[in-house]
Amino acid sequence: MSTTTLIKSGTLITASETFTADILVQGEKIAAIGQELDVQDAEIIDASGKLIMPGGIDPHVHLALPMFDTISSDDHYTGHKAAAFGGTTTALDFVVQEPQGFAHSVDIWRRKAEIAAIDYGFHMNLTHFDEQVGREIPSLVEMGITTLKVFTAYNGRLRLPDGDIFQAMRIAKDHGMLTMLHAENGDVIDVLVEETLAAGHTTPEWHARTRPAWGAVEAALRGFALAAETGAPLYLVHMNVAGEVDMLHYARQRGIKVMGETCSQYLFFTEDHLRRADGAKWICSPPMRTEADNARLWDGIADGTIQVMGTDHCPFFFDGTKPILYEEEEIAIPGKELGAQDFTKIPNGLPGIQDRMPILWTEGVVKGRITPNQFVAMMSTNPAKIFGLYPRKGALLPGSDADIVIWDPERVVDYGVAMSHQRTDYSLYEGWELKGYPEKVYLRGELIIDGEEWLGAPGKGMYLHRTPNAEIL
Ligand code: URP
Ligand code: ZN
Ligand code: ZN
Repeated sequence: MSTTTLIKSGTLITASETFTADILVQGEKIAAIGQELDVQDAEIIDASGKLIMPGGIDPHVHLALPMFDTISSDDHYTGHKAAAFGGTTTALDFVVQEPQGFAHSVDIWRRKAEIAAIDYGFHMNLTHFDEQVGREIPSLVEMGITTLKVFTAYNGRLRLPDGDIFQAMRIAKDHGMLTMLHAENGDVIDVLVEETLAAGHTTPEWHARTRPAWGAVEAALRGFALAAETGAPLYLVHMNVAGEVDMLHYARQRGIKVMGETCSQYLFFTEDHLRRADGAKWICSPPMRTEADNARLWDGIADGTIQVMGTDHCPFFFDGTKPILYEEEEIAIPGKELGAQDFTKIPNGLPGIQDRMPILWTEGVVKGRITPNQFVAMMSTNPAKIFGLYPRKGALLPGSDADIVIWDPERVVDYGVAMSHQRTDYSLYEGWELKGYPEKVYLRGELIIDGEEWLGAPGKGMYLHRTPNAEIL
């Protein structure tokens, strides 16, 4: 059913401008933006006093990802629903590369995503490379996947040797694809983990202590050197340490085509959180660092060195032996307790897909660290551009998908697990007071969030076939 909605008198915030206007939505698209628009038979939404932004794009999530002896606890329905409550209408997650080839691997993920509730696309994890794989990489573009993620850590599981990364980047460049880099030093991590376990250290803080910051810094620079040598663009994921910001700044100043993403958790938490009794809640890779790193990441956001804010949403229960109620049903999924006796067995990953926009609005915009326009750039417009979705997504423009967030800048919430639709038993932001929260969220013209009410449904999310040769910001 095609609907017409006229959102009147809101303050539009784009990546570059702030102005008051009406937005006419017809069917799935924004039809017009202007002053005092008047249309017969439209549903009128009075947005005076409210902010209007393009729906958020979270470019880094892991839904239903098998890890160790469990699986990340949000699937493509629950994770998408949580995303929408936080103002995000598009999420990109990572396909696991299977030995049977890319088509088979993508098919597995397409089937997982049949329950999608917001629009979605995929990146391909490249964890095995040979001549045959190299020949197959261009087929990903035909499947709408224009990005490869490579790893310099997780030896024996996900890591590729530098020479393979180098070759894959050359192929990616020839086909207008973007390589994404997980930067840590896998060899050093393996040595430290072995020594640490032999010394009898088993608690969560040792997760951080065996994944040193300098390993992330040198691996990031290694990646940028490969970008310089191949001429291929590179996107550094989940930036977590000051030295990565320095390296990114250094490389960008030299005209190397490199970009960076950080994730909310790296702006607020430190290794100290892993020393708490519930420290496993903060275990993800790369780990939390120091307050100085938090501060340098904020600077990198404010000065434009970092282009994107993702989440690396990959939730697990803190105590997966105790069920929670989700949509009135009890559910428990094995989680962090799997590593109670050994930090290397704690599933790596954190919740954050719902938290990203509300947390960053309060901590970034309300506290004066970034402007509202920078917020929209990082949350929506830049990821749309970098990942081949712009201007269909990430924009308030006639012809764009009507993915629209009506944001109440005055709403104060006591945030935490009681407000969370992420399918896990904890929130990293328990008890934080937030000012500003999504009031209504539209996905391609359809209202899916109305205050605290969920109007979306599994299967409503659309697969996004992304275009190659996207912008390098
Ligand atoms: O701990 C994390 N981040 N889990 C997801 C995998 C990754 O490296 O992004
Ligand atoms: Zn990673
Ligand atoms: Zn990740």
